[in-house]
Order: sequence, then C-alpha cells, then structure tokens
Amino acid sequence: MKVLVATQKPFAPVAVKGIEEIVKKAGYEFALLEKYAEKAELLEAVKDVNAIIIRSDKIDEEVFEHAPELKIVVRAGAGFDNVDLAAATKHGVVVMNTPGQNSNAVAELVFGMLLYTVRNRFNGKAGTELMGKKLGLLAFGNVPQNVARIAKGLGMEVCAFDGYIPAEVFTQHGVKQVNTPAELFKECDVVSLHIPSTPETRRSINKELLLSMPKGGIVVNTARQDIIDEDGLIEALLERTDLRYVSDLMLEKHDEAVDKLGDRYFATPKKMGAQTAEANINAGLAAANQIVGFFKDGITKFQVNK
Ligand code: 3PG
Repeated sequence: MKVLVATQKPFAPVAVKGIEEIVKKAGYEFALLEKYAEKAELLEAVKDVNAIIIRSDKIDEEVFEHAPELKIVVRAGAGFDNVDLAAATKHGVVVMNTPGQNSNAVAELVFGMLLYTVRNRFNGKAGTELMGKKLGLLAFGNVPQNVARIAKGLGMEVCAFDGYIPAEVFTQHGVKQVNTPAELFKECDVVSLHIPSTPETRRSINKELLLSMPKGGIVVNTARQDIIDEDGLIEALLERTDLRYVSDLMLEKHDEAVDKLGDRYFATPKKMGAQTAEANINAGLAAANQIVGFFKDGITKFQVNK
C-alpha cells in the first residue's frame, strides 16, 4: 500500500513527520510531493499510489485517469471543492475531508485581519475597537463557531445565518440566529464569510448585500474567492467609501478599479488561514489515520462522495 502526500502548499515539517510515522506504522509506503509547480509532476507521482493526502490541490478526471491503483483521496481540511467528486465516484475512489481540524487557525486569522484593519494597519492613526460591534457569521459550521467563541471574548455581539444547522446549535453557542443572509448584512458592522463554494453560493456575495451594510461595514472572507461577485464588490466599495473588504484570498482582478480601493481592500498574498503547525498537525494526522482506518477497518465516516 502506498500513501502519497501531495501538497503545493506544504504542511509544517512536524506534520509531515507525523503523517509519515502513521503511514509507516501501518506497514505502508510513504511518498511526498511538495511545492510542485507543474501538474505533470502530480500525474507522475500518482501513477502507483493507493491513497493521496491533499490540501487545496486540484484533483480532477485527469489525475484519476493517471492513478489506476487509487482507492482514497483525503483532503486534509474542510472544503473539498478542489476535488471532482463525480470523477472520483466514476473511478471508484472514496473522497474524505477532515472537518473541524483546522478551524481554530482560520478563526484566529479572521481576528488577525480584522484588528489589522480596524487599527488602520498600525499606521498610528486612531482606529476603532471591536468590543460592542455586531458580528454576522454567514454559515455556522466549525470555523464560524470558533469565530463566535473568540468574538464573545472580545465583547462583540454575534449573530449568524445558516440554513442547514438546527436552531439549538445557535442557542448552545449563545449566538442569535437570523433568518436570511440579507438580514445579516443589513444588521452587522462586520460580516465574516464561511460558506463553501457550491453552484448555489458562487458569486452570491453581491453588490446589493454589500450596499445594505451599516456605515463603516467590513466584510471578512476566509472562505473561498468564487463566492464573491468581484465586479459587484468593487462597484459597491467604489460607491460606498466607508466599506472595507479583507480577505485570505486575493481578488482575481488587478485593474485600476482595484487600485482605487487603496487601504479599504486587504488580502493575504497566499491563502494562509489553515497555515499553522497546529492545524497542519490536526488535519494531516487525521487524514493519515482516516486512510489507515479505511484500509484496515473499512471506515468511511468522513466520505463526501457517498
Ligand atoms: C479548508 O478548506 O480546510 C481551508 O480552506 C484550508 O485550505 P488549505 O489546506 O489549502 O490551506
């Protein structure tokens, strides 16, 4: 049995070591492909493997065609929009994720970026505080539940919208449930996005929602880039010069309009929400254990292409 870790954005070395130990202890062969620049390198590396651990790496039909021995792909992380699930199912490959394992890291980055923003990038000018401000969470899964916990520590008022989560979960976390995304944007000083990228959510964060925000509104995106209607976002920010957009994902556009946003738009140079040693260890080791559990005991608990 051969297990490949294929990550364009590498895990922390301590996590790679932990994965290797789990794989070898199970009696399997371990292979590592990090920072690959060309898809051809991935296609070559998968040709004799039975399992792959990935992050945001794109696994499409071509990858499955080049991996005749492949039985399982584990996305060490939450979002699996980078894996072609239909192609996986067609090729008889089980796909899993590791929900919750990197969520605190992403939640902490929300506040790293928020504090940087409300304190004017630490430029010395008087900024504002988060205490007493109203935070809206769009979705209420693992990451936003951690965001809510931290926000409460900062004295923020927290509300959330999620059409898939039972009402008692909001109550358990002391978070006010709102009925629509529109309500969230209209009511909240800060809206933090946590929806996955699906056909329904793509480009759903639009100009109308942004323009409905209170004065000084801030949108934080640690989810996915394609949930944003970029043209609508840029137009809204140009029309309302009090609004700000901070993101763990760079806008695809780099034109004059984006330049005009100046300090009201900030993005990390690389998606780094889950890029902590702790998150890499949690997600990477969970992925390795899920592979061993799948081969040894047929456990498919976190399968996402059932
Ligand atoms: C996730 O879906 O788990 C996060 O977006 C992290 O993605 P990454 O592993 O590519 O950093």
